Amino acid sequence: MTRTASSSPPPDNERATKRPKLEHLTPDSFKNGVFLAPMVRSGALPTRLMALKHGASLVWGPEVVDKAILHAERVVDPVTGVISYNGKTRAIFTTHPIEKPYLIYQIGSASPQLAVQAAKTVVQDVSGVDLNCGCPKPFSTHAGMGAALLTNPDLLCDILTSLRRELPPHITVSAKIRLLPSQEDTKRLVERIVRTGVSALTVHCRTRNMRPREAALIERLREIVEFVEGLGIDIPVVANGDCQGWEDAKRVKQITGASSVMIATAAEANPSCFAPTPLQDVETTMIPSYLRLCKYIDNHWALTKFCISQFRSTRREVTKEQANDLKARIIKAKGFDELTDLVGSWSGEAEFTKIADIIGSRRPRPLLTVRIRNHLRHARPWVPAGVREYPNLQ
Ligand SMILES: Cc1cc2nc3c(=O)[nH]c(=O)nc-3n(C[C@H](O)[C@H](O)[C@H](O)COP(=O)(O)O)c2cc1C
Repeated sequence: MTRTASSSPPPDNERATKRPKLEHLTPDSFKNGVFLAPMVRSGALPTRLMALKHGASLVWGPEVVDKAILHAERVVDPVTGVISYNGKTRAIFTTHPIEKPYLIYQIGSASPQLAVQAAKTVVQDVSGVDLNCGCPKPFSTHAGMGAALLTNPDLLCDILTSLRRELPPHITVSAKIRLLPSQEDTKRLVERIVRTGVSALTVHCRTRNMRPREAALIERLREIVEFVEGLGIDIPVVANGDCQGWEDAKRVKQITGASSVMIATAAEANPSCFAPTPLQDVETTMIPSYLRLCKYIDNHWALTKFCISQFRSTRREVTKEQANDLKARIIKAKGFDELTDLVGSWSGEAEFTKIADIIGSRRPRPLLTVRIRNHLRHARPWVPAGVREYPNLQ
């Protein structure tokens, strides 16, 4: 689908338009929440929108390596308002203003200067910036990024300090780490990180060498949470590892004492896991609407198929055979139009408007304690210049 797009930078135009004052995130925004984890590929825009629709408090974008975004061209779709940061051959990062109040952009970096440049490139479209200090894959660690930072705390903290110093104060800076093999080393690292001025720290409760299938060591987190509290620094610690959804997040909170819980794999399988009652039979309850949304926002077809191929849920009416057949059909299809009979009607705009309505009118749903976050209550995304207004968001 080709659309005429307005190319960036339009900040002067945008400043000239009447723009509602944006409320922004604070360290409190990272408390009492259930968050969508950063996930390369699986954490694409339509999945983030679905997660927000179903109650995720904040959403992390997939890790983008610093250099990748630096020369991207920012393009706004004049019909949908989708913002794409386009590289030479593909979109490096895609977002929409309706998710901005809840969106954390994750950077892969081993350089304070590049990290700052990368963050400044996207800062107008996000609410926070997170540093990936946990990716164990060689493409990250070879270059000193991801989990390599865990054993280079000087550089890790230098990047965080630079981001905090150079970014506008309303943009939060946070970090996501893994556990180190020893508890004492983990605490030493955590102390250094929380003293850099970050707004939150997520701990993926696996060590660098653990496989994703090994059970997360969430019971190790309580001592770390209490250690941070003991430092007298009010920085929320977010627990990550093996949480299955909103209900299960209460268990994780209870065990760890963490402020909030972050979910990856379970959300990749069912982005409605943030709801107290997640959708069952995703083949009929989620996939058709996901396809409609993806078509409307012009989501890349291969990415759409990949994300759908990861979907699974408990089944009540859909049989295993029906679920497999549906996935096989979608995987074979060459484009959205081969699936018209599955989606009923391609009213992707209606799908999008419904999601925008829900996100625009959402109220924080605390996990355990009642806490009204006024800065989010009235948060409304801005409408980019040249894009039709979303009446429900005004
Ligand atoms: C498909 C996929 C992609 C991921 N990409 C990222 C990423 O870009 N950045 C990151 O910090 N972690 C990434 N992770 C790790 C998750 O954010 C999370 O830390 C890990 O999966 C543990 O959470 P879980 O037990 O809920 O899956 C990814 C995980 C998955 C499954």
